[in-house]
Amino acid sequence: MNVVTTIADMRTLAESHRKKGRTIGFVPTMGFLHEGHLSLMREARKSCDIVVVSIFVNPTQFGPGEDFDRYPRDEKGDREKCEAEGIDVLFIPSAAEMYPPGDSVSVPVEGIADILEGASRPGHFRGVATVVARLFTIVGPHKAFFGQKDFQQTVVIERMATGLNMDVKIVVLPTVREQDGLAMSSRNSYLRADERRAAASLYRALSEGEGLIRSGVGAASKLKRAMRAVLEKEAGIEIDYLEIVDPESLVSLREIEHRAVLLVAARIGRTRLIDNVLIL
Ligand code: PAJ
Repeated sequence: MNVVTTIADMRTLAESHRKKGRTIGFVPTMGFLHEGHLSLMREARKSCDIVVVSIFVNPTQFGPGEDFDRYPRDEKGDREKCEAEGIDVLFIPSAAEMYPPGDSVSVPVEGIADILEGASRPGHFRGVATVVARLFTIVGPHKAFFGQKDFQQTVVIERMATGLNMDVKIVVLPTVREQDGLAMSSRNSYLRADERRAAASLYRALSEGEGLIRSGVGAASKLKRAMRAVLEKEAGIEIDYLEIVDPESLVSLREIEHRAVLLVAARIGRTRLIDNVLIL
């Protein structure tokens, strides 16, 4: 595995692979890797000649007072996991290189970036789109792999890639969960034992909604009430938002007819978690 820390080296390496006609699959991450991240790498490994993984805790996607400073890091463990997955290139750039002094360019995605996660975390998706656009430009992947876990992020990135005419296929893969349904997340490491138990209610609430839809309930208000009740049974959970939206436009639905995504964001102690299920 090549471990690369400069943009110049990453570019040169990717360029040489492209020149030899090899397809490049790219998995951007913020590290502290878990099975969710590894599932993306495995899919990339299956369908591309060269797999590039990046680890960069991107400061611009964290708001003031958020967890940038305490975001979990484990570079040694991450390297070993990437090695074990047969990753070809691990790109670990510095913040100074990704955001040089005097830097004044960002990538705002209008509309869908300002609702849901974007409303709770102003500027978050501007930071995400900016760093992912830069990483795409540096790595030049044929395919890039993202998790459905961050549903709105996948929509923002697809819009960004389409809007900037980027020649990259965005592949979205299912959420990997713990035994009790909790979506894997680097942030789960913040949870105390009692909080960790309570956290499973996010997926229980989403499953409740999904079950009701499957049994014919279509009214969003009724579904949200039932989901809210599941979360409210658990002490210490503060709901940020609970929404049912159209998967493409992210517009709130009043009646579920075809496709929908159920989204939840909640705070458990100091930890903010998100999850979703897609109904097709
Ligand atoms: P991070 O939270 O490290 O996630 C990296 C990728 O792993 C994202 O595409 C995310 O959706 C996916 N992922 C996380 N948990 C998952 C799970 N349980 N199952 C499946 N996939 C999962 O998302 C980011 O980093 C950043 O915003 C990034 C895109 C790297 C830009 O900085």
